[in-house]
Amino acid sequence: MSTINIALLGYGTVGKGVYEIINSNQERFLTLLGQNVKVVAILVKDIDKHIPPKEGILLTDHFEDIIQLPKLDVVIEATVGVEPSFSHITRAIQRRCHVITANKEMFAHHGQEIIELAKTYGTTVGFEATVAGGIPIIQTLNKLLNINQVQKIEGILNGTTNFILTKMREEGLSFEEALSLAQELGYAEADPTNDVEGYDAFYKMMILSQVCFGQQPDWKAVFRKGITGITPDQIKHHDTTNLRIKHIASITKTEQGIEAILKPTIVQPSHPFYNVEGVENAVSIHANIVGNISLSGPGAGMYPTASAIVEDLIHACRTDVNEWHTSAVSQTSIV
Ligand SMILES: NC(=O)c1ccc[n+]([C@@H]2O[C@H](COP(=O)([O-])OP(=O)(O)OC[C@H]3O[C@@H](n4cnc5c(N)ncnc54)[C@H](OP(=O)(O)O)[C@@H]3O)[C@@H](O)[C@H]2O)c1
Repeated sequence: MSTINIALLGYGTVGKGVYEIINSNQERFLTLLGQNVKVVAILVKDIDKHIPPKEGILLTDHFEDIIQLPKLDVVIEATVGVEPSFSHITRAIQRRCHVITANKEMFAHHGQEIIELAKTYGTTVGFEATVAGGIPIIQTLNKLLNINQVQKIEGILNGTTNFILTKMREEGLSFEEALSLAQELGYAEADPTNDVEGYDAFYKMMILSQVCFGQQPDWKAVFRKGITGITPDQIKHHDTTNLRIKHIASITKTEQGIEAILKPTIVQPSHPFYNVEGVENAVSIHANIVGNISLSGPGAGMYPTASAIVEDLIHACRTDVNEWHTSAVSQTSIV
């Protein structure tokens, strides 16, 4: 029986989750794909911090060891930053591997180039995990965009900021107290700038814009405001009239181009995000034929993110490459 050989780039929160799901679902893969699925190699930055999870798996800090493996079918990328991840993905595609990534920063910068390159080399690109973790937003858009045209897409795209705003309202905490709690619970990093100033949500917005509208707005023209200036008094004041503050990304297609805004926004009880609380994410799609669709769920974390990656893996292994490249999402193009 043949085997699908996988390399994992990155063995942190997401990489470990992916390994665990692959390792513990071997029978299910056999049923679904008629093939064994094996992680054959893992790339890390600091090899001294790690031991291979199983005998026979190559653990390395040299990408060349991986790209030169005699048998390699899929490369799953769960590292950080734009480089060297973009170069690694490029080399993997040139080697005719399917690629799957969770790296939103890299994909916001280079997603379209990656999709074009994959087209040239006859491989597929999975990027569900880059936006809203476990919520299948990319697949949903892929199903929707054949006949529908999306007019607007809104999202709570960062669980950490949503958690902080929720705790400030529910428990009357200051921003600093709610942030400390998020850090204690592992929802926020020691340096929370990426989350609380909106950079993380910004990258996700750019990927959504690319998928929905085939283009991204000029990054410098995007209005991005984080949540650091919000006070408990403001939250309390709105709460007394049943209003809540949510950190909402909004991307709209206008006659002038794409308008993208990320800012704290006051919502009424009728808004689909009013009851989206804690670390949850939500996305609301407004399309011309179907109307409004809202999805909510876990936007980050080991298993929700790994779940999105492994679903992409199954999709890649089952999909005819030509069919993938004629799907709506894979046809998006940068202008
Ligand atoms: N965590 C989440 O909930 C989540 C959700 C959605 C998307 N993502 C995205 O998924 C990616 C991974 O996130 P994570 O939380 O798993 O991060 P993490 O825990 O910090 O793990 C990152 C991994 O990448 C490795 N790495 C970093 N730079 C490298 C390099 N230059 N060469 C080789 N390996 C390198 C690290 O190696 P060492 O272990 O040796 O340092 C580590 O194993 C990020 O792009 C993140 O934005 C994360």
